Amino acid sequence: MKIAVLKELAEGEKRVSASPETVKKFIALGASMAIEKGAGETASVADSDYEAMGATIGTRAAVIKDADIVLGIQGPPPESLKGIKKGAWLAASLNPFGERARVDEYAKLGIDALAMEFMPRITRAQSMDILSSQSNLSGYKAVVLAGAEYGRAFPMMMTAAGTVSAAKCFVMGVGVAGLQAIATARRLGAQVSATDVRPETAEQIESLGAKPVFDDDLASDGGGGYAAELTDEQKAKQAELVSKHITKQDIVITTALIPGRPAPRLISDAQIATMKTGSVIVDLAAEQGGNVEGAVAGEVVVKHGVKIVGANNMPSTMAADSSALFSRNLYNFLSAYWDEETKRPVLPDDDEVTIGIRLTKDGKVVNERLLAN
Ligand code: NAI
Repeated sequence: MKIAVLKELAEGEKRVSASPETVKKFIALGASMAIEKGAGETASVADSDYEAMGATIGTRAAVIKDADIVLGIQGPPPESLKGIKKGAWLAASLNPFGERARVDEYAKLGIDALAMEFMPRITRAQSMDILSSQSNLSGYKAVVLAGAEYGRAFPMMMTAAGTVSAAKCFVMGVGVAGLQAIATARRLGAQVSATDVRPETAEQIESLGAKPVFDDDLASDGGGGYAAELTDEQKAKQAELVSKHITKQDIVITTALIPGRPAPRLISDAQIATMKTGSVIVDLAAEQGGNVEGAVAGEVVVKHGVKIVGANNMPSTMAADSSALFSRNLYNFLSAYWDEETKRPVLPDDDEVTIGIRLTKDGKVVNERLLAN
């Protein structure tokens, strides 16, 4: 049972899909671990750290050869998987909606492609959920970035020279990233408010000491813990609610996503024009089309005196921590299905996790969610 860990090829991707800790744990389960040379370098893990845990280091071709499972952060280009054996598993964040052609290529290679971001939101799969672990860090970093761009302090300060007032921070979209953003902004001393279209988040916002900004007509439920797209009428109502609130804010963090759809537009250029000069918006959805009009992923754009920070692979900017968590998600997933006798994981066809994450099998695309999209 050989597990290969690939060096990431995507531009700017610094994470790695195994940590020395998970390498040690996989070996304890009976697997052999082969790490592509330099895979951990950008995440502060040296080849020798893996070797110390019992892994071997090799070229891409050498680690892929005979591997039963290949691990990655982002989906590797299919042409980079030359020599992979039929029936091997590829477990990574495969971006199936955005990289549909790649999924077809994975099918042609005869491998089982497992999209970790399709992990169902069920209690037993919580520790396997890469979206949660990575979003947590993104929510934190969004506030840190906002603080760096903001020309003022976050907390109220009473000094002999006068009082500095607290920053007002508004978080839009209160999922995993949003909750962490609220908690971080509160810790830094900002006055925090937040909104979402899932009504149950109001209580969560309050429990973190922030103020919920809600309208009962804006409830939306896409099932499985996800929001659905709002109707046109609801969108107009939300725009009105946001317009009233946003003019008084110093920092706005947007995190709203809808799986398989472009990110919902939450802030228009006209609304940005009503904000105070020097305010900062961080758009965590910039890569999915943006919650904020004019946001550009990976850039800071200034519109009407407001800085708009477009997030670009935020977890990669904290590669040591995000890799450790991603690696644990992968370990928690594979070890939960480990068969003691054969010393390898077995995914039953009728298991909710298998149905959720398996994209390809026996040369075909088999995932219902992907096929329905
Ligand atoms: P997400 O990344 O899909 O979206 C972020 C937030 O944006 C969500 O709260 C969503 O309701 C909100 N949103 C979407 N459209 C919006 C709009 N037009 N206006 C305002 N807000 C909008 O969400 P995330 O972070 O993945 O979490 C969603 C829920 O799933 C949470 O309750 C979380 O605790 C739960 N969850 C459960 C897991 C499990 O049980 N295994 C794992 C991961 C999340």
